[in-house]
Amino acid sequence: MSDTKHKIIIAVDGFSSCGKSTFAKAIAARLGYIFIDTGAMYRAVTLYALEHDAIRSGIVDEEDVVKLLDRISITFRFNPERGASDIYVNGDRVEGKIRTIEVSNCVSRVSAIPEVRRKLVAMQQEIGRRRGVVMDGRDIGTVVFPDAELKLFMTADPAVRACRRYKELTAKGMTVTMEEIERNIRERDKADMSRAISPLRQADDAIVLDNSHMTVDEQMAWFMEQFKIHNS
Ligand code: DC
Repeated sequence: MSDTKHKIIIAVDGFSSCGKSTFAKAIAARLGYIFIDTGAMYRAVTLYALEHDAIRSGIVDEEDVVKLLDRISITFRFNPERGASDIYVNGDRVEGKIRTIEVSNCVSRVSAIPEVRRKLVAMQQEIGRRRGVVMDGRDIGTVVFPDAELKLFMTADPAVRACRRYKELTAKGMTVTMEEIERNIRERDKADMSRAISPLRQADDAIVLDNSHMTVDEQMAWFMEQFKIHNS
C-alpha cells in the first residue's frame, strides 16, 4: 500500500554489494512502487557481449559491443515469486545468468562505454516517466534523475560487503573464494568511481546510509522517517 500523496522518484546509488537492490526492492514493495535494478541492465548487456564474442578471454572489444547494441532489447516482467521484476534480453529470461563472477569481472568495462550508457540511461528515463519508481544504480541521482525527490547514497564496510556477496553466491551454489570476491569489489569500486562518463559519486543532495551494521528492518525504519520528511 502506498502512503504517498503523489508518487515520486527515489534514487538509490552507492557501491557494489551494499545491499542496494535488496533495500530498493523492499522500499518499492512497502510503497507500492516499481523497482528497477539498473545494474541488471548493464549486466545483461555484458552477458550478451560475452555470449556473442564481443568479450574474448576477458578483454572487452568496445567496438564489437557497440555494434551489438541495436540487437539487444531489454524488458522487465514482474515475477510474483521473487516479488520483483525479472530481466529479459530479446525475450529470454537472463536473471539467473547475469550474477556470475564472469559477468561481474567485465561489467565495469562494459558500463564505461558511452554508447552503452546512452542507451540504458534513455530506457531508465522512459521508465521513470510514470513516476512511483525506486531505481538503484550508480548514477541515478546524478545523471538519470538529477531532480529525483529523494536520493539515497548507500555504503558499507568493504569486508562486510565481501562477506554478503560471498554468502549470496555460495547460497546459489556458485564456487567462489572470498579473495576473488574482495578483489572484484575493490576493482569495481575503483573502476566505477574513476570512469570518465557518469562516475559513481554521491549527489550533493543525497542522504547517506551506511548499513554495515544495520538489519533490513532497521534500514526500513530509517527510510520511512526520511520518506516522511521528503514527501510531506
Ligand atoms: O549493482 P551491480 O553491482 O549489479 O552493477 C553492476 C555494474 O554495473 C557495476 O559495477 C557498475 C555498473 N552500473 C553502472 O555503471 N551504472 C548503474 N546505474 C548501475 C550499474
